Amino acid sequence: MYDVKLLRVIDLSLSIIADCKRLSFGDEGYMCEDLDAAIAKERTARRRYRHTMACLVYDKDTLVGWSLIEPVPRSPRYVVQMFVDPNYRRRGIGRYLLQQANYMSKRKPFVYIDDENEDFFKKFPELCVEV
Ligand SMILES: CC(C)(COP(=O)(O)OP(=O)(O)OC[C@H]1O[C@@H](n2cnc3c(N)ncnc32)[C@H](O)[C@@H]1OP(=O)(O)O)[C@@H](O)C(=O)NCCC(=O)NCCS
Repeated sequence: MYDVKLLRVIDLSLSIIADCKRLSFGDEGYMCEDLDAAIAKERTARRRYRHTMACLVYDKDTLVGWSLIEPVPRSPRYVVQMFVDPNYRRRGIGRYLLQQANYMSKRKPFVYIDDENEDFFKKFPELCVEV
């Protein structure tokens, strides 16, 4: 019922980036900072993000959840960050995004746990580990 796209962040169109930014903690958040860095013109920034993936979940044409799956330099691990539209939470989209990141990693991906999301992440100890 949802459509999913898995793309390299450096290949995202500006309109997809704008949709992702709307669905996040805002410009000061890590996800927006990473998106801005990934599309920066500097070669070093582009090199750093060349293997970072975005998993995009759509309800028809509307982005309702997404994740950034970023390899940790010189490590087999990834860091995964995700954001689900508040109107679409508790429908399994977060779980799907976490499973997707786990599937891509040789080791459990790192996640940033805080008071707001710990009940979610604590449900999936087999899929992730705290940074
Ligand atoms: C954390 C987040 C990604 C979860 O997304 P979601 O789509 O609502 O998660 P799911 O529907 O897959 O939840 C799976 C299970 O986790 C648990 N869970 C999820 N959110 C929960 C909450 N707020 N409180 C308690 N349990 C929760 C539930 O057991 C849920 O299953 P159930 O609905 O059948 O009970 C979403 O709340 C979010 O975007 N939060 C803001 C951004 C964030 O904190 N991102 C993570 C760090 S980068």
